Amino acid sequence: MFSREAKRKRDKKAKEEIVRQKENASELIPIDKDEGMNIVEEKDDDNESLYTSASKFRMHMKSLSDYDDELAISIERQSWDDIGKYAMLLKNTSPLLFTGKGKTELPKEFVMLDALFHFQSLAVAEASQSREMVKMNIEYEKLQKTCDDCHERFKEKG
Ligand code: HEC
Repeated sequence: MFSREAKRKRDKKAKEEIVRQKENASELIPIDKDEGMNIVEEKDDDNESLYTSASKFRMHMKSLSDYDDELAISIERQSWDDIGKYAMLLKNTSPLLFTGKGKTELPKEFVMLDALFHFQSLAVAEASQSREMVKMNIEYEKLQKTCDDCHERFKEKG
């Protein structure tokens, strides 16, 4: 049987050992900012894993982009019927579905950025029904940001 004193000493030793191991580990794996960035960039380059077919994905992205352009033109013309039409078309698109992959196969961040796009395209569709130009412009600008945010993270530069 261990006395209380012996147990206390044992626990203290165990704790010290853990602290020592942690110190050793951070010596072996220096974690500085630059290295962290490299890891992120390596993942970026591995875009092939995003979709089953890159050409199909790009084709869908292109049509999404066309709707987006048409929506901008309609807003400028203040043509509410067209605004409503393109808002609905945008709302029914899905970058996630374009990938041909399931949620669990995709990076969590991609799934999240896709969800933000959906959320915002819904807000755009709602604004188009309200027929309030100020609101429409605000929600449209926010939608552009969801495109940019995903591209910044997942679209290869150049
Ligand atoms: C959840 C992620 C995501 C969202 C949201 C998203 N995109 Fe994309 N988009 C991509 C990725 C990834 C590519 C790069 C595809 C490739 O070339 O490999 C891309 C490529 C594109 C391209 C180039 C297609 C080509 O022919 O090479 C256009 C144009 C485009 N997106 C427009 C848009 C617009 C406009 C929006 C918003 C209304 C949008 N995207 C929202 C992920 C996204």
